[in-house]
Amino acid sequence: MADPDDLVSAAAAVRRNAYVPYSGFKVGAAVRAADGSVHSGCNVENVAYPEGTCAEAGAIAAMVAAGQTAFRQVAVIADSPVPVTPCGGCRQKLFEFAQPDATITMATTSGERVTMAVSDLLPGAFVKSQMDNV
Ligand code: THU
Repeated sequence: MADPDDLVSAAAAVRRNAYVPYSGFKVGAAVRAADGSVHSGCNVENVAYPEGTCAEAGAIAAMVAAGQTAFRQVAVIADSPVPVTPCGGCRQKLFEFAQPDATITMATTSGERVTMAVSDLLPGAFVKSQMDNV
């Protein structure tokens, strides 16, 4: 596994731009795509609360916009008491683009980190083969 330091730094940098007038909870995320390029995103809230987007979704969108459709590593950071874990919807979004051995590093702004396999985040993920009867 590649050292996640630069990814955590990229996530921390983009986190500063998070638009969070409603929760006040800034999150940053960064992915390392299959070609090694790094793409980042922050959470962007909306007065219509469900229309807000998570940092992970932003990082994935930036990666896809740059022409990459797989990542090998992802980092997420927030100012939380324990390393922030992706919400359920983001776990499915991450699963879509994660290489089989992809890892996630979850970090706090105070320096705590937990790294695990992305595949362990979402047991029983919905996958394309479940639509095979269509
Ligand atoms: N949030 C993220 O961006 N990523 C996560 O992994 C957890 C939650 C955002 C969504 C919302 O803007 C704020 O954090 C509070 O839920």
